[in-house]
Amino acid sequence: MKRAEKRIFLSTATMHGDEEKYIKEAFDTNWVTTVGKNIDEAERMAAEYLDVKYAVGLGTGTSALHLATKLAGEKLYGQSKPGRGVLFGHRVFATDMTFDASINPIGYEDGEAIFLDTEYDTWNTDPEALKKAIELYPDVKLLVVVHLYGTPGKMNEIRKICKDNGILIIEDACESLGAKYKLDGKWVETGTLGDYGCISFNGNKIITGSSGGMFLTNSKEDADKVRKWSTQSREAAFWYQHEELGYNYRMSNIIAGIIRGQLPYLNEHIQRKTEIYHRYKEGFKGLPVQMNPYDSENSVPNFWLSCLIIDEEAMCPQVRDDQKALYVHEKGKSCPTEILEKLEECNMEGRPIWKPMHMQPIYRNNVFITARGNGRGQSNAYIDKGKQLDVGMDIFSRGLCLPSDIKMTEEEQDMVIATIRECFE
Ligand SMILES: Cc1ncc(COP(=O)(O)O)c(C=O)c1O
Repeated sequence: MKRAEKRIFLSTATMHGDEEKYIKEAFDTNWVTTVGKNIDEAERMAAEYLDVKYAVGLGTGTSALHLATKLAGEKLYGQSKPGRGVLFGHRVFATDMTFDASINPIGYEDGEAIFLDTEYDTWNTDPEALKKAIELYPDVKLLVVVHLYGTPGKMNEIRKICKDNGILIIEDACESLGAKYKLDGKWVETGTLGDYGCISFNGNKIITGSSGGMFLTNSKEDADKVRKWSTQSREAAFWYQHEELGYNYRMSNIIAGIIRGQLPYLNEHIQRKTEIYHRYKEGFKGLPVQMNPYDSENSVPNFWLSCLIIDEEAMCPQVRDDQKALYVHEKGKSCPTEILEKLEECNMEGRPIWKPMHMQPIYRNNVFITARGNGRGQSNAYIDKGKQLDVGMDIFSRGLCLPSDIKMTEEEQDMVIATIRECFE
């Protein structure tokens, strides 16, 4: 196995020069606060690219998700008193296989998440699980969906089910900036497919501000509200007057300068990520693995992270507890633990698939719904019903994220491919 001299990263920032110019402009004009031209421009550019009326600059994608959750909660259940979240006493349907930042805002607002299993076609929320969840919990009126690793989910189906059942959609497009989806025959951007859209400019995202996020909407009322909440909820008075809880969530003009410099390169970054994905696909030919799948007819992913999944019969024994993992190497077989270990030995950065939320200790007692119904307690000591259904758990145990840095050279990517090939020897 050949060790890379220079570390090959999962996904790092790729700067182009203009970012510094806009940061300097903020310094020179002394606009280093949460107001300034960089914020105005970054918001304008994002809204224009995504074809949405309003993009509100915030500190993080998580803050965008939090305010989206609060907006949806107020729309459904009315304003809450300070000290009690707007989702208190209410349940929310939520994507299961995701980063916990998608789900945390439900907890910030005192709601309870019901996790919906994943489908194999795009690794996103399964519309069949959503249908089952509605049968079991007809009172739930809010859904959080994600486009995992930049691959759009089955939004035509999901939107229809939600519309028919009066369910609002929070769309977490934090990983999928620039990914496109054919909505009822028309191509649109992810982040504009739900009732509330959220994007992230976190340090490892396809476009970064080092941090940062935006709330996306076509509603002026919602955009104004999010702007107000994000700047401590000041009422229109000469002094500091407050009628509702406020947050210090607004984007800084320095961060916005980086985003302003980065955004013109979004298509270029997507192009590079796409090439990386297809080179992996080609490079893995003959191995018992598949790339993370997408719907080529109805979507164009941004390929933020390339991932692979090992064929079931090519998995060597692997066990994971809450902290550690063990595996036994077998000829012609491998597992994510072995591959990630070998990549690390070779100075290459991979990552496990997001561990599904229903498997997380914090959500141990939350409801989990699969395409068959209740996903908890599926086995029976006295009746053998064959294999249990838990798509998220299966993808987590057989899949992994590959180095997807757009500065990775072809030679470096070939080294990654060679390292993975050796794992199956
Ligand atoms: C799916 C998903 N949702 C939300 C977030 C949160 O974004 P941020 O880190 O900007 O708060 C991230 C990434 O960090 C993410 O990957």
